[in-house]
Amino acid sequence: MTINNCILYTFPKIHDRRGNLTFVEGAKHIPFNIKRIYYLYDVPGGSKRGGHAHKNLNQILIALSGSFDVMLYDGKEKKTVHLNSPQQGLIIVPMVWREIINFSSGAVCLVLASEYYSEDDYFRTLKSFRSSLR
Ligand code: TYD
Repeated sequence: MTINNCILYTFPKIHDRRGNLTFVEGAKHIPFNIKRIYYLYDVPGGSKRGGHAHKNLNQILIALSGSFDVMLYDGKEKKTVHLNSPQQGLIIVPMVWREIINFSSGAVCLVLASEYYSEDDYFRTLKSFRSSLR
């Protein structure tokens, strides 16, 4: 798994004069069933989230409100993806280090996750992540 597997999905949008509605169906619009959702909000200016990689977890990040940047690193290559649309979701596959920065004021980051929370699934240091890649 590399950062090339971390792609942007565009979800369906139903627009009428009352506004927009977007929906995401597990294993249909995204390649896994959703076991957990969580969201980041009230992020103070200048704060950084993430700073870890996962062994088995797939996640989709959605900027429900506002915007932020997701920096991805697979041990070889890096890329940064700017998220600013509730209609788009960035998949982060296992074995990719991520840092989320530049949160705009009022930003909400919704995360759809393929597994329940497990601390054992985390690489919390770049050192442990890099050595697992060798
Ligand atoms: P962490 O994954 O480090 O957050 P972020 O990716 O935003 O930097 O999680 C922060 C804390 O919250 C950590 O103590 C683990 C806990 N946590 C849960 O209990 N359940 C969850 O689903 C998540 C994502 C985190």
